[in-house]
Amino acid sequence: MKFTTLAEADAALTAAVACFDQTRKLSSAERHAILTAISAGLQDQREAFAQLLCAEAKKPIRDARVEVDRAALTFSLAADEARRFGGELLPLDLSAAAVGRMGLVRRFPLGPIAAVTPFNFPLNLVAHKVAPAIAVGAPVVLKPAEKTPQTALKLQELVHACGWPEAAFAVLTPETPQEIGHLLADDPRLPVFSFTGSDTVGWALKQRATKKRVILELGGNAAVLVDHASKVEHAVGRCVVGGFAYSGQVCISVQRIFVVENYFEAFCADLVARVRALKLGDPADETTDLGPMITEDAAIRVEQWVEQAKAAGARVLLQGPRDGALLAPSILTAVPTDQPLVRDEVFGPVVIVEPVASFDEGIARINASRFGLQAGVFTYDMRRVLQAHQELEVGGVIINDVPTFRSDAMPYGGEGDSGVGREGIRWTMDEYTSPRVLVLSA
Ligand code: SIN
Repeated sequence: MKFTTLAEADAALTAAVACFDQTRKLSSAERHAILTAISAGLQDQREAFAQLLCAEAKKPIRDARVEVDRAALTFSLAADEARRFGGELLPLDLSAAAVGRMGLVRRFPLGPIAAVTPFNFPLNLVAHKVAPAIAVGAPVVLKPAEKTPQTALKLQELVHACGWPEAAFAVLTPETPQEIGHLLADDPRLPVFSFTGSDTVGWALKQRATKKRVILELGGNAAVLVDHASKVEHAVGRCVVGGFAYSGQVCISVQRIFVVENYFEAFCADLVARVRALKLGDPADETTDLGPMITEDAAIRVEQWVEQAKAAGARVLLQGPRDGALLAPSILTAVPTDQPLVRDEVFGPVVIVEPVASFDEGIARINASRFGLQAGVFTYDMRRVLQAHQELEVGGVIINDVPTFRSDAMPYGGEGDSGVGREGIRWTMDEYTSPRVLVLSA
């Protein structure tokens, strides 16, 4: 079934609403079986999904295979959670008037989920909307990114083949994407609105979804802090991956690196040498590290931000050419803090590296951002670890690795302009449901 026009999208919404009565009654065993079958199907079709991702999102094939493996894990985690999504027994006999009372608290799905996903993880970020919905028994109406609908459609086919009702997972591929985005945010029949994408679009849609449960997973300008008590070589190696994998088109890509003063020069020299050695080219080539960006316009925008920072006084440590959408990595330092390269989300192959006088200054510089998704801290000093956990205003602090690390089992989401709510199967299941107490009297 194709949903491209506004009328077809509306019909998909109506069908999802009608189907909720069926999905909410599926047993834990039925939901577990469907999720397990989807996970197995992804493993069976690993190469086909990876090739599609590579072609559609221009994701280097090695990274595309990792994404398929992650999606299989996401569904299998949801299968586990479907079986353990229990409740809580509360003693309510707390006064003479309530003798014999107790409460049973269970969570129930709010209703069908409206979901919007971006181009950069066309499979696993869709999985993060759909798998927890199946786990709680809620239908999903999804609008994938216009650049990457085919992966979502292929997943839809698999989900239906595994026994999840057709009307309970509809992928919209609209002729008028903005209008359909508004429909999903506005329509009161879908009480949950879950959006992953740019901060500008996400916050604007939240204004429309006033009476809904809203989950926004937006961007960031993720930072790394490299302390004295760390293995600097290891930090450099991880920053190469975290800053340049998929050409930096990841919400938790390393954008700002702060290095304590004594190590700064050595860190920069090693970083530049290793980034220079990355192989650019065709994403289908098994040896490619960096492929083209999603569009030439995106590459031009990033190139302009670099030029703008240079004109404002930034010093270039590495800058390569642009060939259409293929943009070579850049590394800059002494970038004025009012520059988009510091202030906004680059979403491209650029990192900035700055010296800091102390660990405390590093924490303050990381926090001086309107975003707060994740941060990476390299240190073996336990006091610093606990300080970072307490003081960094982000959704996740990653010790001895880059902020780009994400396990699909952990809570994922940000503070400030990075969004509201959390994903990560168990946490998304909470977002999709509400507690309802049953008061029992003897
Ligand atoms: C994102 O770009 O928000 C997703 C990152 C990930 O799942 O690794």
